Amino acid sequence: MALQFTVSESTGRVGDAERAKILANPGFGNYFTDHMVTATWSDADGWHDAAVTPYGPIALDPAAAVLHYAQEIFEGMKAYRHADGTVWTFRPEANAARFARSAHRLALPVLPEDDFVQSLREIVAIDKAWVPEAADGAETSLYLRPFMFASEAFLGVRPAKKVTYCVIASPAGAYFSGGVKPVSLWISTDFARAGEGGTGAAKCGGNYASSLAGQLEGIDHDCDQAVFLDSSTHTYIEELGGMNLFIVYRDGRIVTPELTGSILEGVTRSSILELAKELGLSPEERRIPIQEWKDGAESGEIAEVFACGTAAVVTPVGELRWDGGSCDHRRDGHTDEIALKIRSTLLDIQYGRAEDARGWMTQL
Ligand code: COI
Repeated sequence: MALQFTVSESTGRVGDAERAKILANPGFGNYFTDHMVTATWSDADGWHDAAVTPYGPIALDPAAAVLHYAQEIFEGMKAYRHADGTVWTFRPEANAARFARSAHRLALPVLPEDDFVQSLREIVAIDKAWVPEAADGAETSLYLRPFMFASEAFLGVRPAKKVTYCVIASPAGAYFSGGVKPVSLWISTDFARAGEGGTGAAKCGGNYASSLAGQLEGIDHDCDQAVFLDSSTHTYIEELGGMNLFIVYRDGRIVTPELTGSILEGVTRSSILELAKELGLSPEERRIPIQEWKDGAESGEIAEVFACGTAAVVTPVGELRWDGGSCDHRRDGHTDEIALKIRSTLLDIQYGRAEDARGWMTQL
Protein backbone atom coordinates (compact mmCIF):
# COMPACT_ATOMS: atom_id res chain seq x y z
CA MET A 1 0.00 0.00 0.00
CA ALA A 2 1.23 3.50 -0.84
CA LEU A 3 2.74 5.51 1.99
CA GLN A 4 0.49 8.20 3.50
CA PHE A 5 2.42 11.30 4.55
CA THR A 6 1.35 13.24 7.64
CA VAL A 7 2.20 16.94 7.52
CA SER A 8 3.33 19.18 10.37
CA GLU A 9 4.11 22.67 9.22
CA SER A 10 7.15 24.58 10.39
CA THR A 11 6.37 27.54 12.64
CA GLY A 12 9.79 29.11 12.11
CA ARG A 13 9.64 29.44 8.35
CA VAL A 14 12.12 31.73 6.67
CA GLY A 15 10.47 35.06 5.84
CA ASP A 16 9.76 36.18 2.26
CA ALA A 17 12.52 38.82 2.23
CA GLU A 18 15.17 36.45 3.59
CA ARG A 19 14.13 33.70 1.15
CA ALA A 20 14.20 36.12 -1.80
CA LYS A 21 17.74 37.11 -0.82
CA ILE A 22 18.82 33.45 -0.72
CA LEU A 23 17.13 32.61 -4.02
CA ALA A 24 18.87 35.52 -5.75
CA ASN A 25 22.24 33.87 -5.16
CA PRO A 26 21.92 30.38 -3.72
CA GLY A 27 25.22 28.84 -4.89
CA PHE A 28 25.11 25.07 -4.43
CA GLY A 29 24.26 23.14 -1.27
CA ASN A 30 24.33 26.10 1.10
CA TYR A 31 20.70 26.63 2.11
CA PHE A 32 17.80 24.33 2.94
CA THR A 33 14.06 24.75 2.76
CA ASP A 34 11.65 24.88 5.70
CA HIS A 35 10.63 21.21 5.64
CA MET A 36 11.92 17.69 5.15
CA VAL A 37 10.36 14.32 4.45
CA THR A 38 11.09 11.25 6.56
CA ALA A 39 9.91 7.64 6.55
CA THR A 40 10.99 4.60 8.50
CA TRP A 41 11.48 0.99 7.47
CA SER A 42 11.79 -1.97 9.80
CA ASP A 43 12.09 -5.61 8.89
CA ALA A 44 8.98 -6.31 10.97
CA ASP A 45 6.71 -3.55 9.59
CA GLY A 46 8.16 -2.51 6.21
CA TRP A 47 7.83 1.19 5.28
CA HIS A 48 5.75 3.31 7.70
CA ASP A 49 5.59 6.65 9.56
CA ALA A 50 5.95 8.80 6.45
CA ALA A 51 5.90 12.46 7.42
CA VAL A 52 6.58 15.99 6.28
CA THR A 53 8.11 17.85 9.22
CA PRO A 54 9.96 21.10 9.89
CA TYR A 55 13.56 20.93 8.63
CA GLY A 56 15.95 20.16 11.45
CA PRO A 57 18.57 17.86 12.97
CA ILE A 58 17.97 14.12 13.06
CA ALA A 59 18.42 12.44 16.46
CA LEU A 60 20.62 9.43 15.85
CA ASP A 61 21.84 6.82 18.30
CA PRO A 62 25.68 6.90 18.37
CA ALA A 63 25.55 3.18 17.55
CA ALA A 64 23.46 3.77 14.39
CA ALA A 65 24.99 1.43 11.81
CA VAL A 66 25.39 4.14 9.15
CA LEU A 67 27.91 5.94 11.36
CA HIS A 68 30.08 2.83 11.53
CA TYR A 69 29.56 0.86 8.32
CA ALA A 70 28.35 3.53 5.87
CA GLN A 71 25.18 1.69 4.85
CA GLU A 72 23.74 4.71 3.01
CA ILE A 73 22.53 5.73 -0.47
CA PHE A 74 21.25 8.94 -2.01
CA GLU A 75 19.92 10.59 -5.16
CA GLY A 76 20.30 14.03 -6.71
CA MET A 77 17.43 15.60 -8.65
CA LYS A 78 16.11 19.07 -9.41
CA ALA A 79 12.71 20.77 -9.40
CA TYR A 80 12.38 23.39 -12.16
CA ARG A 81 9.89 26.24 -12.21
CA HIS A 82 8.42 26.82 -15.66
CA ALA A 83 7.35 30.23 -16.94
CA ASP A 84 3.68 29.53 -16.05
CA GLY A 85 4.63 28.86 -12.40
CA THR A 86 4.24 25.06 -12.55
CA VAL A 87 7.05 22.95 -11.08
CA TRP A 88 8.55 19.92 -12.84
CA THR A 89 11.26 17.36 -12.39
CA PHE A 90 13.38 15.40 -14.86
CA ARG A 91 13.09 11.62 -15.34
CA PRO A 92 12.19 10.82 -11.69
CA GLU A 93 11.49 7.20 -12.61
CA ALA A 94 15.15 6.86 -13.68
CA ASN A 95 16.30 8.15 -10.29
CA ALA A 96 13.80 5.90 -8.49
CA ALA A 97 15.12 2.89 -10.42
CA ARG A 98 18.73 3.80 -9.66
CA PHE A 99 17.83 4.33 -5.99
CA ALA A 100 16.40 0.80 -6.00
CA ARG A 101 19.59 -0.59 -7.62
CA SER A 102 21.71 1.27 -5.07
CA ALA A 103 19.51 -0.12 -2.28
CA HIS A 104 20.09 -3.68 -3.54
CA ARG A 105 23.85 -3.14 -3.63
CA LEU A 106 23.98 -1.67 -0.12
CA ALA A 107 21.57 -4.30 1.29
CA LEU A 108 18.96 -1.61 2.06
CA PRO A 109 15.21 -1.99 1.51
CA VAL A 110 13.73 -0.76 -1.77
CA LEU A 111 11.40 2.24 -1.61
CA PRO A 112 8.69 1.72 -4.26
CA GLU A 113 8.86 4.17 -7.18
CA ASP A 114 5.43 5.67 -6.41
CA ASP A 115 6.44 6.42 -2.80
CA PHE A 116 9.74 7.89 -4.01
CA VAL A 117 7.96 10.23 -6.46
CA GLN A 118 5.27 11.07 -3.89
CA SER A 119 7.96 12.07 -1.38
CA LEU A 120 9.25 14.59 -3.96
CA ARG A 121 5.73 15.90 -4.53
CA GLU A 122 5.28 16.35 -0.77
CA ILE A 123 8.36 18.46 -0.21
CA VAL A 124 7.83 20.55 -3.33
CA ALA A 125 4.17 21.15 -2.43
CA ILE A 126 4.98 22.52 1.03
CA ASP A 127 8.14 24.38 0.04
CA LYS A 128 7.08 25.55 -3.43
CA ALA A 129 8.07 29.12 -2.60
CA TRP A 130 11.67 27.82 -2.52
CA VAL A 131 11.67 26.82 -6.20
CA PRO A 132 13.45 29.75 -7.85
CA GLU A 133 12.12 31.58 -10.89
CA ALA A 134 14.54 30.85 -13.70
CA ALA A 135 15.11 33.76 -16.02
CA ASP A 136 16.00 32.76 -19.59
CA GLY A 137 19.30 30.93 -19.67
CA ALA A 138 19.65 30.81 -15.87
CA GLU A 139 19.99 27.47 -14.14
CA THR A 140 18.49 28.08 -10.73
CA SER A 141 16.37 25.23 -9.44
CA LEU A 142 15.45 23.45 -6.22
CA TYR A 143 17.91 20.59 -5.75
CA LEU A 144 16.20 17.55 -4.22
CA ARG A 145 18.26 15.14 -2.16
CA PRO A 146 16.50 11.87 -1.27
CA PHE A 147 18.66 9.60 0.94
CA MET A 148 18.35 6.43 3.00
CA PHE A 149 20.53 5.16 5.82
CA ALA A 150 20.87 2.39 8.40
CA SER A 151 19.47 3.88 11.62
CA GLU A 152 19.42 0.70 13.73
CA ALA A 153 21.60 0.93 16.84
CA PHE A 154 23.66 -2.23 16.41
CA LEU A 155 27.39 -2.80 16.01
CA GLY A 156 27.33 -6.25 14.43
CA VAL A 157 28.11 -6.23 10.73
CA ARG A 158 24.89 -7.17 8.92
CA PRO A 159 22.16 -5.30 7.02
CA ALA A 160 20.31 -3.00 9.42
CA LYS A 161 16.81 -3.95 10.52
CA LYS A 162 15.82 -0.30 10.88
CA VAL A 163 16.34 2.22 8.10
CA THR A 164 15.43 5.89 7.68
CA TYR A 165 14.50 7.59 4.39
CA CYS A 166 14.60 11.38 4.05
CA VAL A 167 14.26 14.07 1.43
CA ILE A 168 15.74 17.51 1.90
CA ALA A 169 15.69 20.35 -0.62
CA SER A 170 18.21 23.07 -1.35
CA PRO A 171 17.85 26.02 -3.74
CA ALA A 172 20.67 25.77 -6.26
CA GLY A 173 22.48 27.87 -8.79
CA ALA A 174 25.61 26.77 -10.66
CA TYR A 175 27.49 23.87 -9.03
CA PHE A 176 30.86 25.51 -9.67
CA SER A 177 31.20 28.92 -8.12
CA GLY A 178 32.95 30.19 -11.29
CA GLY A 179 29.81 29.43 -13.35
CA VAL A 180 30.07 27.68 -16.72
CA LYS A 181 33.76 27.93 -17.41
CA PRO A 182 36.18 25.09 -18.17
CA VAL A 183 37.41 23.10 -15.19
CA SER A 184 40.89 21.59 -15.06
CA LEU A 185 41.32 17.90 -14.18
CA TRP A 186 44.01 15.99 -12.31
CA ILE A 187 44.53 12.31 -13.19
CA SER A 188 44.33 10.47 -9.91
CA THR A 189 46.65 7.47 -10.13
CA ASP A 190 47.35 6.97 -6.42
CA PHE A 191 43.67 6.76 -5.54
CA ALA A 192 40.87 4.83 -7.24
CA ARG A 193 37.25 5.75 -6.64
CA ALA A 194 35.81 2.25 -7.02
CA GLY A 195 36.91 -1.25 -7.96
CA GLU A 196 35.58 -4.26 -9.82
CA GLY A 197 32.69 -5.85 -7.91
CA GLY A 198 32.59 -2.86 -5.55
CA THR A 199 29.96 -0.17 -5.10
CA GLY A 200 31.05 2.17 -7.93
CA ALA A 201 27.73 1.96 -9.81
CA ALA A 202 25.70 2.62 -6.65
CA LYS A 203 25.02 6.15 -5.50
CA CYS A 204 26.34 5.64 -1.99
CA GLY A 205 28.18 8.08 0.24
CA GLY A 206 31.23 5.80 0.45
CA ASN A 207 32.06 6.34 -3.23
CA TYR A 208 32.13 10.08 -2.68
CA ALA A 209 34.24 9.73 0.47
CA SER A 210 36.76 7.63 -1.44
CA SER A 211 36.99 10.29 -4.16
CA LEU A 212 38.01 13.05 -1.76
CA ALA A 213 41.72 12.18 -1.36
CA GLY A 214 42.10 12.22 -5.17
CA GLN A 215 40.26 15.51 -5.34
CA LEU A 216 42.53 16.99 -2.66
CA GLU A 217 45.56 15.80 -4.60
CA GLY A 218 44.11 17.56 -7.66
CA ILE A 219 43.58 20.78 -5.73
CA ASP A 220 47.19 20.56 -4.51
CA HIS A 221 48.15 20.53 -8.20
CA ASP A 222 45.99 23.57 -9.01
CA CYS A 223 43.22 21.51 -10.61
CA ASP A 224 39.49 21.89 -9.99
CA GLN A 225 38.60 18.18 -9.98
CA ALA A 226 40.17 14.74 -10.28
CA VAL A 227 39.48 12.15 -12.97
CA PHE A 228 39.59 8.55 -11.76
CA LEU A 229 40.91 5.58 -13.73
CA ASP A 230 39.98 1.91 -13.47
CA SER A 231 41.44 0.50 -10.28
CA SER A 232 43.02 -2.64 -11.72
CA THR A 233 45.06 -1.35 -14.67
CA HIS A 234 45.05 2.46 -14.13
CA THR A 235 44.53 2.68 -17.89
CA TYR A 236 40.92 3.53 -18.62
CA ILE A 237 38.96 6.67 -17.79
CA GLU A 238 36.08 6.12 -15.36
CA GLU A 239 34.53 9.34 -14.03
CA LEU A 240 35.11 12.41 -11.89
CA GLY A 241 33.60 11.19 -8.64
CA GLY A 242 30.55 13.47 -8.85
CA MET A 243 30.23 13.67 -12.66
CA ASN A 244 30.46 11.53 -15.80
CA LEU A 245 32.76 12.49 -18.65
CA PHE A 246 32.38 12.90 -22.45
CA ILE A 247 34.99 13.46 -25.16
CA VAL A 248 33.91 15.06 -28.46
CA TYR A 249 35.99 14.40 -31.56
CA ARG A 250 36.25 16.73 -34.54
CA ASP A 251 34.76 13.99 -36.74
CA GLY A 252 31.49 14.12 -34.74
CA ARG A 253 32.01 11.16 -32.42
CA ILE A 254 30.99 11.78 -28.82
CA VAL A 255 32.45 9.16 -26.54
CA THR A 256 31.83 8.31 -22.88
CA PRO A 257 33.25 5.47 -20.76
CA GLU A 258 31.04 2.39 -20.94
CA LEU A 259 29.28 1.26 -17.77
CA THR A 260 31.60 -1.33 -16.29
CA GLY A 261 29.94 -1.62 -12.89
CA SER A 262 32.35 0.81 -11.26
CA ILE A 263 30.94 3.95 -12.93
CA LEU A 264 27.80 5.80 -11.83
CA GLU A 265 24.96 5.34 -14.31
CA GLY A 266 24.26 9.05 -14.64
CA VAL A 267 20.77 10.14 -15.69
CA THR A 268 22.29 13.20 -17.40
CA ARG A 269 24.85 10.88 -19.07
CA SER A 270 22.15 8.64 -20.55
CA SER A 271 20.04 11.64 -21.61
CA ILE A 272 23.02 13.15 -23.45
CA LEU A 273 23.63 9.86 -25.27
CA GLU A 274 20.04 10.10 -26.57
CA LEU A 275 20.17 13.81 -27.43
CA ALA A 276 23.54 13.49 -29.21
CA LYS A 277 22.01 11.70 -32.20
CA GLU A 278 19.48 14.49 -32.66
CA LEU A 279 22.31 16.99 -32.67
CA GLY A 280 24.01 15.12 -35.53
CA LEU A 281 26.69 13.50 -33.36
CA SER A 282 27.67 9.82 -33.21
CA PRO A 283 27.55 8.62 -29.58
CA GLU A 284 29.82 5.78 -28.45
CA GLU A 285 30.07 4.02 -25.10
CA ARG A 286 33.36 2.18 -24.74
CA ARG A 287 36.48 1.92 -22.65
CA ILE A 288 38.64 5.00 -23.24
CA PRO A 289 42.35 4.74 -22.43
CA ILE A 290 43.60 7.90 -20.72
CA GLN A 291 46.40 7.84 -23.31
CA GLU A 292 43.76 8.37 -26.03
CA TRP A 293 42.84 11.68 -24.37
CA LYS A 294 46.49 12.77 -24.17
CA ASP A 295 47.14 11.79 -27.82
CA GLY A 296 43.89 13.34 -29.10
CA ALA A 297 44.58 16.61 -27.30
CA GLU A 298 48.09 16.67 -28.77
CA SER A 299 47.02 15.81 -32.34
CA GLY A 300 44.01 18.13 -32.32
CA GLU A 301 41.52 15.29 -32.97
CA ILE A 302 39.69 16.09 -29.72
CA ALA A 303 37.45 19.11 -30.11
CA GLU A 304 35.90 19.25 -26.62
CA VAL A 305 35.74 17.47 -23.30
CA PHE A 306 32.94 17.99 -20.80
CA ALA A 307 31.66 16.66 -17.49
CA CYS A 308 27.98 16.16 -16.70
CA GLY A 309 25.63 15.41 -13.84
CA THR A 310 22.42 16.65 -12.27
CA ALA A 311 24.22 19.20 -10.13
CA ALA A 312 26.82 20.30 -12.70
CA VAL A 313 24.51 19.95 -15.77
CA VAL A 314 27.19 20.16 -18.51
CA THR A 315 30.52 21.69 -17.59
CA PRO A 316 33.36 22.09 -20.12
CA VAL A 317 36.73 20.61 -19.21
CA GLY A 318 39.97 22.36 -20.15
CA GLU A 319 43.45 21.29 -19.13
CA LEU A 320 44.34 17.74 -18.08
CA ARG A 321 47.28 17.37 -15.70
CA TRP A 322 49.17 14.44 -14.27
CA ASP A 323 52.32 13.76 -12.33
CA GLY A 324 54.97 15.05 -14.73
CA GLY A 325 52.86 16.49 -17.54
CA SER A 326 49.76 18.16 -18.90
CA CYS A 327 47.80 18.56 -22.12
CA ASP A 328 45.06 20.82 -23.41
CA HIS A 329 42.85 20.14 -26.43
CA ARG A 330 41.85 23.80 -26.73
CA ARG A 331 43.31 25.87 -29.55
CA ASP A 332 43.00 29.57 -30.40
CA GLY A 333 39.34 30.45 -30.95
CA HIS A 334 38.08 27.47 -28.91
CA THR A 335 34.42 27.86 -27.89
CA ASP A 336 33.05 24.59 -26.31
CA GLU A 337 30.25 24.94 -28.84
CA ILE A 338 28.97 21.36 -28.58
CA ALA A 339 29.05 21.19 -24.78
CA LEU A 340 27.13 24.45 -24.62
CA LYS A 341 24.63 23.30 -27.25
CA ILE A 342 23.97 20.07 -25.33
CA ARG A 343 23.71 22.04 -22.13
CA SER A 344 21.15 24.48 -23.53
CA THR A 345 19.18 21.65 -25.19
CA LEU A 346 18.86 19.91 -21.83
CA LEU A 347 18.07 23.07 -19.88
CA ASP A 348 15.45 24.12 -22.44
CA ILE A 349 13.62 20.81 -21.93
CA GLN A 350 13.98 21.00 -18.15
CA TYR A 351 12.68 24.57 -17.92
CA GLY A 352 9.83 23.92 -20.39
CA ARG A 353 11.28 26.18 -23.07
CA ALA A 354 11.45 23.33 -25.61
CA GLU A 355 9.15 20.47 -26.48
CA ASP A 356 9.59 17.45 -24.21
CA ALA A 357 9.39 14.94 -27.07
CA ARG A 358 10.48 11.99 -24.91
CA GLY A 359 8.16 12.62 -21.97
CA TRP A 360 11.14 13.15 -19.66
CA MET A 361 9.42 15.78 -17.50
CA THR A 362 7.01 15.04 -14.63
CA GLN A 363 4.95 17.77 -13.03
CA LEU A 364 5.27 17.79 -9.25
C1 COI B 1 24.40 15.20 -8.59
O1 COI B 1 24.82 15.62 -9.67
O2 COI B 1 23.22 15.30 -8.26
C2 COI B 1 25.30 14.56 -7.66
O3 COI B 1 24.85 13.75 -6.92
C3 COI B 1 26.72 14.98 -7.66
C4 COI B 1 27.20 15.58 -6.40
C5 COI B 1 26.58 16.87 -6.02
C6 COI B 1 27.29 14.59 -5.30
